[in-house]
Amino acid sequence: MSKRIDVGDLNVYYSSFLAVEGVSMAIEPRSVTAFIGPSGCGKSTFIRTLNRMHEVIPGARVQGKVLLDGEDLYGSSVDPVTVRRQVGMVFQRPNPFPTMSIRDNVLAGMKLNSNRMSKSTANEVVERSLQGANLWNEVKDRLDKPGSGLSGGQQQRLCIARAIAVQPDVLLMDEPCSALDPISTLAIEDLIAELKQSYTIVIVTHNMQQAARVSDRTAFFNIAGTGKPGKLIEMDETTKIFTNPSVKATEDYVSGRFG
Ligand SMILES: Nc1ncnc2c1ncn2[C@@H]1O[C@H](COP(=O)(O)OP(=O)(O)O)[C@@H](O)[C@H]1O
Ligand SMILES: [Mg+2]
Repeated sequence: MSKRIDVGDLNVYYSSFLAVEGVSMAIEPRSVTAFIGPSGCGKSTFIRTLNRMHEVIPGARVQGKVLLDGEDLYGSSVDPVTVRRQVGMVFQRPNPFPTMSIRDNVLAGMKLNSNRMSKSTANEVVERSLQGANLWNEVKDRLDKPGSGLSGGQQQRLCIARAIAVQPDVLLMDEPCSALDPISTLAIEDLIAELKQSYTIVIVTHNMQQAARVSDRTAFFNIAGTGKPGKLIEMDETTKIFTNPSVKATEDYVSGRFG
């Protein structure tokens, strides 16, 4: 549990379009790393390369290396399905399976990954995952009701429960609070602070206060213009990025002068 990621000179393409260029970075275990930057600079594109979700788009490919505790995720013998189990993902819009019960939503990833599980093991996984996502107390009396009956914030925590049920090493979150109200957002931020004790967490956020609140390190991405590739401009301790960044473009962005 909780592994480091090392990215080496990564280029990310959609067919012939170079969307993200030359990213190298280290993402530390048991910490939260935030990705910030203006819309279209490639944050979502880049984060999806960290669990091989990028390549499910026809024509999409990468050059360069992504290492998980030293192992190349793009190695020729590596199964992308295994990678996605090790590196889980939570999306912008909560996306529980609407007709599935809360219980089955939590177990959805397990059922793909293991062919048989006893009832008592399943119950343990459901309770552990929902506890881990700070949702257990709110749903324990209605586990057989559909996931779609939950509020938006609860649905997002259900998606986090589903992601942690398979015990990943890394949790990727792409703007996980952008569809949520402020109270649900704070609940997710509290949860992130707890989860970082067990997982490597990467979060894309357009909310600078959120990046400052939840992350240990922040990476600022930028784009020189439409059609140009997004690039990593600067990555450092979050306090440094927000108070004393090394690059002028970072300072302009975090102080709200553009983007
Ligand atoms: N499925 C796709 N096919 C082709 N181009 C895409 C696709 N998704 C994103 N892009 C392009 O990649 C660039 C980066 O987009 P994105 O990663 O969504 O940025 P961000 O998340 O920072 O807003 C943009 O130019 C966008 O139009
Ligand atoms: Mg995005």
